Amino acid sequence: MSAYRTISSTVGKHLKMTVFGGSHEPSVGVRLEGLPDGFIAADIDMAQLQAFLARRAPGSTPYGTARKEADVPVLTSEEPLTFEIYNKDQHSGDYKGLTNTPRPGHADYTAGLRYHGEVNMAGGGPFSGRMTAPLCIAGGIALQILAKKGIAIHAQLVEAGGVQSANVPPEDDPMYQRILAAKADGDSVGGRVRCVVSGMPGGIGGAMYDGLESLLSPIVFGIPGVKGVSFGDGFAVCGMTGSENNDPFCIAPEKAAGAACGENTVGGDSAAVKTATNHAGGILGGISTGMDIIMDVAFKPTPSIAKEQQTVDLAAGKETTITVGGRHDPCIAVRAVPVVEAAMALGLLDAMLDPSL
Ligand SMILES: Cc1cc2nc3c(=O)[nH]c(=O)nc-3n(C[C@H](O)[C@H](O)[C@H](O)COP(=O)(O)O)c2cc1C
Repeated sequence: MSAYRTISSTVGKHLKMTVFGGSHEPSVGVRLEGLPDGFIAADIDMAQLQAFLARRAPGSTPYGTARKEADVPVLTSEEPLTFEIYNKDQHSGDYKGLTNTPRPGHADYTAGLRYHGEVNMAGGGPFSGRMTAPLCIAGGIALQILAKKGIAIHAQLVEAGGVQSANVPPEDDPMYQRILAAKADGDSVGGRVRCVVSGMPGGIGGAMYDGLESLLSPIVFGIPGVKGVSFGDGFAVCGMTGSENNDPFCIAPEKAAGAACGENTVGGDSAAVKTATNHAGGILGGISTGMDIIMDVAFKPTPSIAKEQQTVDLAAGKETTITVGGRHDPCIAVRAVPVVEAAMALGLLDAMLDPSL
């Protein structure tokens, strides 16, 4: 038995997800309560779920860490549905001494203030990117449920280190070259992930805290390294006029001859009413319009970098320097792409499970 305290946290209104464990504990896991009536573990396509988890797993590209984590989900309870991933490939030695000399940008210092050394912080503990593996199990299940309703979710890295993606294979994309340059320099870069949902029916969500943005944001902010979430045109709306930002309503061309709907009228259900533009990102008043839902997520640069940085020696009460060892992602956002899809799927399914719908 570990002498450390196990941290768990829960999110969701109708579909409740609890993530528990830590990167250097025996396992990380997830429990889901409130799944659709009649849904059982046997309904999960495990091959598809494993393929989804493989997109997040490290060790596969030069743009991520070289750590190897197999990420095999083990069903440990049918009711409530619980999966665990048993941890392997831990290099605890890489983190020795970090508790006394907190890494700038990481949770070492604040975790000490909050948990007083009761949590195993090796590998980032419960603040590690590893916690997104159980999030992807839950989200992968939610994606399968939504796919059966004709809802498809796709995220991609659109910007890293200030360089926009050219939408070409990674080896030719200046955005990925920027990540490799930071890595070669012992540094890291931030990135932006854009997530688009197509096939979303209109009328899902609700006022204020039942709103889609309100349900999605806590799940997204739970992903380590996330510093911003926006919908539609996001912060760009600050510089827009109402006439630029409002999306004109129109009748879908297939429903009415000669209608004014433009090319942007993709997605949504079969309803006749669309919007000619989609600055709102598919959400008005917290409720889906039936247009594509568009969400952007800002990831900060990976805190653990090979460059020497200033910190404090907490035991000695003196300033000192730190050079972080270990194998780290040069850009968190690269591996976070499927994690954002998982968060989106969980938030939308939560909203769709509102019994008052
Ligand atoms: C998929 C993923 C991989 C990550 N990999 C690393 C890593 O290799 N090194 C590191 O220092 N932080 C990594 N992080 C980020 C830290 O977990 C995070 O920055 C830290 O817990 C502090 O939390 P905050 O950034 O949300 O404030 C990763 C995050 C995610 C989502």
